[in-house]
Formats: sequence, structure tokens, C-alpha cells
Amino acid sequence: MPGTVIVGTQWGDEGKGRFTDYLAKESELVVRYQGGHNAGHTIVVDGEVFALQLVPSGVLYDWVTPVIANGVVVDPAVLIDEIDMLCRKGVDATRVRLSGNAHLIMPYHQELDRVTERYLGKNKLGTTKRGIGPAYADKAARVGIRVQDLLDPKIFRAKLELALREKNGVLAKVYNRLPLDANEICERYLAMLPRLEPMIADTVHLVHEALDAGQRVLFEGAQATYLDLDHGTYPFVTSSNPIAGGVCTGAGVGPGAVDRVIGVTKAYTTRVGAGPFPTELFEGDAVGDLLVERGHEFGTNTGRRRRPGWLDAVMLRHAVRLNGCTEIAMTKLDVLAPLTELKVCVAYEDDDGARYEHVPYHQSVLHKVRPVYETLPGWGGEIDDAARVEDLPAAARDYVRFVEEIARVPVSFVSVGPGREQTVVLPRAA
Ligand code: GDP
Ligand code: IMO
Ligand code: MG
Repeated sequence: MPGTVIVGTQWGDEGKGRFTDYLAKESELVVRYQGGHNAGHTIVVDGEVFALQLVPSGVLYDWVTPVIANGVVVDPAVLIDEIDMLCRKGVDATRVRLSGNAHLIMPYHQELDRVTERYLGKNKLGTTKRGIGPAYADKAARVGIRVQDLLDPKIFRAKLELALREKNGVLAKVYNRLPLDANEICERYLAMLPRLEPMIADTVHLVHEALDAGQRVLFEGAQATYLDLDHGTYPFVTSSNPIAGGVCTGAGVGPGAVDRVIGVTKAYTTRVGAGPFPTELFEGDAVGDLLVERGHEFGTNTGRRRRPGWLDAVMLRHAVRLNGCTEIAMTKLDVLAPLTELKVCVAYEDDDGARYEHVPYHQSVLHKVRPVYETLPGWGGEIDDAARVEDLPAAARDYVRFVEEIARVPVSFVSVGPGREQTVVLPRAA
């Protein structure tokens, strides 16, 4: 049985974690294929909040094997802390399987992420400072250290010393920082091996065994389409490929292994960090402030206020193409409840009057365009206890229908609150 991909269609924090959790119920494997602990995926079950960064969001079901695949970059201390946090909450997360090919985030990656951001000054990207960019850069430069290197202390030390020779030079000479100590890092990382070793596995084999056995495999994207290194708003992106295509390299499967791609789309838009955002509603805008307040739009990971804006259907349509979305899961529809009118961006215009119905490839254009909106009526009442589509007011259904038509794929699910049960399944998907 082929797999399903959950992918963010905007700039992250769409609610991928809650939908992964929702669909994990019917899966045997849930696989993270890229990113690292820059992700913050929130699941709410019976009022209890689980904030996950590295452990796949299927972990709450004891029949699911959560897999951290080769495409992920892993800070082992964060992984261990997260597993311990889950154990304290009564979830046995020792079932996690960790690819030996995944790259390690090292202390110098985090340090470089911090100092390069500081040096960029007002041009900074607003990264999560988790060392993600530098870790992927080392992977591409073929000087990365992988999880499997921990299994041989001699190799680990040799690779670390080689890396530090360059990193300490850069830290000291370019950024005026103190050099990092190989002994200290070696000790700290190797001390974690007893906790990590039982989890280390050939995850490509695991995924293929599951697929061959007809089991359901769910691939959980982190970040999102417009944070994609190749297809996002470069350079204001992350350093991996969150788009559905990233599953192939990040988990080691061919395109045929996937037959369902669910694009998770917030009913409006948010973005953390810097970069263009055509439908942004700036701080002080009454609607923007309402979205932040009602949507609790502060990062799970860094606590930063997320920048709010109206739904951008131009970007959504393009995201559907880039990911091959077969359907959409729309989240946070409940947040829009008090608004009397809703806007959806259906095109862009520039100062010369040119109209764009697709995302302009030239970023200078995207920085300057103005959104062209279509206005739809709001429904003016809370919907957070809607359980079926019939429970939604007509205007809310019309909003979903409008998005569906413009995205040209069906909306299969709508969520009306953070709770697992606050999920409305639209008839087609049943
Ligand atoms: P992810 O990174 O895509 O998994 O999303 P996050 O977990 O970072 O951010 C989504 C936030 O919205 C979390 O705090 C969720 O609990 C919350 N959330 C998810 N779906 C809904 C919804 O339908 N309504 C409301 N009000 N909150 C939601
Ligand atoms: P989830 O999985 C929202 C953003 C950062 C920054 C840019 C680069 O929870 O949706 P990085 O640390 O990756 O080098 O930062 O990407 N970013 C996210 N924004 N949600 C995320 O993850 C993000 N992960 C990274 O804010 O703008
Ligand atoms: Mg998040």
C-alpha cells in the first residue's frame, strides 16, 4: 500500500502535527523525512498538549513506529530530552527508529547559526538558531558527521577533529569567538550513545518492509513549501526540501511509494522570520492582531510572534502543483469566526498595473506586489464544536468551497480547534 505525505503549503505552522496525529491512527509507520528541531508540531489530546520537535507525530499511538529518516538533521540531546518528556507523560517513545545516515547537529552548527545571524544584522533570516543551515551545509560539503559515526568512537573523534580544525578557525578569526573543545564534545556526544544505540536502524529498509507488507506509511513534513530550499522564498527559507518530493531523498523511496499528498493549509496565513509576504497584515492592523490573538500565533519552538495575513490562493495553487497535492486539510477555520468579511488573495498586481495569477519567479517582483482580494462573507459565530460538515454555517462551507475551487483539489478535512476531536471530515474523503 503506497504512502501518504503531509506537507505544509504555506510558511509552516499550518497544523501538520495535528493532522499527522489524526491520520497516524490508521498507520503503522510515521516518518519524518527532513528538517530538525526547528520544527514545532503541536498535538492536543483531551486537553493535554504535546509539543514535538523531532519525534514524529504518530508517537501517541502505541502501534505506530515513529521513524526519523536519513533526511533529518538530529541534535541527539534534544531527541533524548523529547523522549524523556514523552515518557513522563506516559508515552513510550523508545520505539523511535533513527537512521544511521541522518546527520548530527553539532555544537559548532548552533554557534555558527547564532553568529552568522548576528553578523547579518538587519539582513538576518530570522532562523530558529538550531544549527539547521550549518548542519545541512556540512552535509552538502561532505564534512558532516552522521549518527552511525557515533558507533565507532575513533571515527567520530577523527571526523570531529577534522571539522573543528576548520570551524574553530572560522569561529575565532571571522567571528571573534572562543574555539570549541574536541574532548568536551566527544565526551558529551559519546555519553549519549547508550541511549541512542537501541534506536539506530536501517530506516530505508524499515520503510520498504512496511510498504511491501501493505502497511500504511505516513510521511510527516516539517517546515513548508515556501520554506523549501529550492522552491521557497530564497534566501528566506530553511535548508532542506520540505516539499513532497523531499520524501524520495529524505526517506529513500521512489515517487511511486506515494499516492496521497495532503497539503495542510491554514485558513489564513502566518510566517515566522523574515522574507516576502504579500498578504501580510502588519502589527496594529485590527484583523492581523485578531488572527494572532485568537490563533495563539506564537511559535511553539521559539515563542516568536508569527506574522499574520489573509489566505493567499496564488501561493496555494502553486503549492498544490509543487507537491502534487491530491487534497487539502484546512486548519484553524474557527479563528476566523468573529470576522464579518474574509479576504482571499486571488492575484497580485504591481505598480505598473501588471497582474500575476501565478507566483512570480523573480523575487524582487514578489517583494513589491500588492494582493488582489476577493471578499467573502463571514459567519459571525463560533464553530469550534462542529463535528460534521452540516454543523458548519453556510458561509463557512462557502469559504471552504471557494478555496477548493481556486486550489483545484478537494478539501478533505477542516479543523475547528486544536483538539484531536475537532476535525471535520468532508464527505468525499469518508
Ligand atoms: P505545525 O508546525 O504545522 O505542526 O503547526 P504548529 O503546531 O506549530 O502550529 C499550529 C498551532 O495551531 C498549534 O498550537 C495547534 O495546537 C493549533 N491548531 C491546530 N489546528 C487548529 C485549529 O483547527 N484551530 C485552532 N484554534 N488551533 C489549531
Ligand atoms: P514547522 O515544522 C515556521 C523558519 C524560520 C526562518 C527560516 C529558516 O513547525 O512548521 P531555520 O532555523 O530552519 O534555518 O530557519 O525558516 N522556520 C519555520 N517557520 N515553522 C517551522 O517549522 C519552521 N522551521 C523553520 O523561522 O524564517
Ligand atoms: Mg510548527
